[in-house]
Amino acid sequence: MHDITGGDWWRGAAIYELYVQSFADGNGDGLGDLAGVRARLPYLAELGIDAIWFTPWYPSPLADAGYDVADYRDIAPRFGTLADADALIREAHELGIKIIIDIVPNHGSDQHPWFQAALAAAPGSPERDRFWFRPPGDEPPNNWQSRFGGPAWSRAPGPDGEWYLHIFAPEQPDFNWSNPEVRAEFEDILRFWFDRGVDGIRIDTAAMLTKDPAFPDLTEPLTGQHPYVDRDDVHEIYRAWRAIADQYGGRVLIGEIWLADAARLARYTRADELHTVFNFPYLSCPWDAARLRAVIDDTLAQPSPPTWVLSNHDVDRHVTRYGRADTSFDLDNRDHSQPVDLELGTRRARAAALLTMALPGSVYVYQGEELGLWEVEDIPDDRRQDPIWLRTAGEDPGRDGSRVPLPWSGAEPPFGFTSGHPWLPQPKEWRELTVEAQAGEPGSMLELYRAALRVRRERFAGGALTWRPAPDGVLAFDRGDGAACLANLSGAPVDLPAHQAVLLASGPLTEGKLPSDTTVWLFS
Ligand code: NOJ
Repeated sequence: MHDITGGDWWRGAAIYELYVQSFADGNGDGLGDLAGVRARLPYLAELGIDAIWFTPWYPSPLADAGYDVADYRDIAPRFGTLADADALIREAHELGIKIIIDIVPNHGSDQHPWFQAALAAAPGSPERDRFWFRPPGDEPPNNWQSRFGGPAWSRAPGPDGEWYLHIFAPEQPDFNWSNPEVRAEFEDILRFWFDRGVDGIRIDTAAMLTKDPAFPDLTEPLTGQHPYVDRDDVHEIYRAWRAIADQYGGRVLIGEIWLADAARLARYTRADELHTVFNFPYLSCPWDAARLRAVIDDTLAQPSPPTWVLSNHDVDRHVTRYGRADTSFDLDNRDHSQPVDLELGTRRARAAALLTMALPGSVYVYQGEELGLWEVEDIPDDRRQDPIWLRTAGEDPGRDGSRVPLPWSGAEPPFGFTSGHPWLPQPKEWRELTVEAQAGEPGSMLELYRAALRVRRERFAGGALTWRPAPDGVLAFDRGDGAACLANLSGAPVDLPAHQAVLLASGPLTEGKLPSDTTVWLFS
């Protein structure tokens, strides 16, 4: 069992995922930026988080919302400058908040100087060897499909017409990680940011970097469990990165890996590799006590430091997921046709927040979940920007609905997010969910998160998880030092066990009972 009392800050941290473009706009252009973040750092300090993970903040032509990086050592002009980033890192540190940035090593932008040089160079040249170019022909070199729809190979513009690999959009060519220059470049990028004071790195699509150069056809349909990822040789890369992180002292490496198999996932967090990986089996799990318990047990049975996540910028927000008849989530099948009961989803999201924050390990909060935001499913087609929507001709609605700018204040859009026009439209109903509307309101989601993050730090920082016997549909466990958590996912109220005090509850407790879809923290 895990004890998170000792050791490093990241083991028990609450990490806030900050999607820069949608957080707060400082210059009125309708896009969030670093000036906006700097102005709102006190909000994050008051929320009680330990670290911010920034989604990519680099110069990018935005073929995939910044996950197509044109320069890994600079800040996108639309977000600010390197000097702004330095100031932000310093100011966050002064408030006790650590900074984690996103590194995207699997692919760059087609506007990255290396790819431009590769296009200008001849087939077989060292410039082309930094990517995966293959000889021209009528058919792509193999049958791999892009994660965003269509073939994973496109023809390079120009007379030679070679194919190049892109597991994501054509504007995101995959780097060739068997080329030592690629390895050296990214090690240098890590040092560049560690030198600037960054405390950690979130590694995008961390299991996909290395490829079989024979590029065999896939024999199974492509799913999130890509058969062409998770190769043994990727681990060497992370051993080298870990050595760098350790040289700097206490810098954390976090892998984004969509593998369902907990044991395979755990291979990435061996002592000399990544520190943690995201727990996507927990995120994908339906709102079902037995299924959640199985994921929790499976997670805690691994030697890896546990992490817990309910939402991020790639998935439907969990208020919406939990308000559907089918509460599971599948990256490869985003079904937006189901009706949503937002009241039910919100009640469950409150219960899920307390369940999640009572578990041993680190926890992620995706910006806006502390406000109870839901997935915006009715964005007009002509406003959508996600390549998933564009490249599947609208068949898959994509991820814009989880990336809508935050509502800060006021009674109408843009709710204080910008003095201009927000890059995605906000629902007018969010007037009830602004920070201004929720701050100081005892029953609000924001106050629940503030209280939960505070109490978590005081009461749930250490101690192993020990399950208590509980009725069907109820998750009940102790966390040492008298703190206990009970989450009622059954359809009926259950009796509260003996206790000295209620530390926090996700909803009202009635006549000594814990209502359905409610979680309570007890001191016993
Ligand atoms: C995972 C990121 O979270 C997602 O937003 C992005 O589209 C892909 N990786 C490709 O970089």
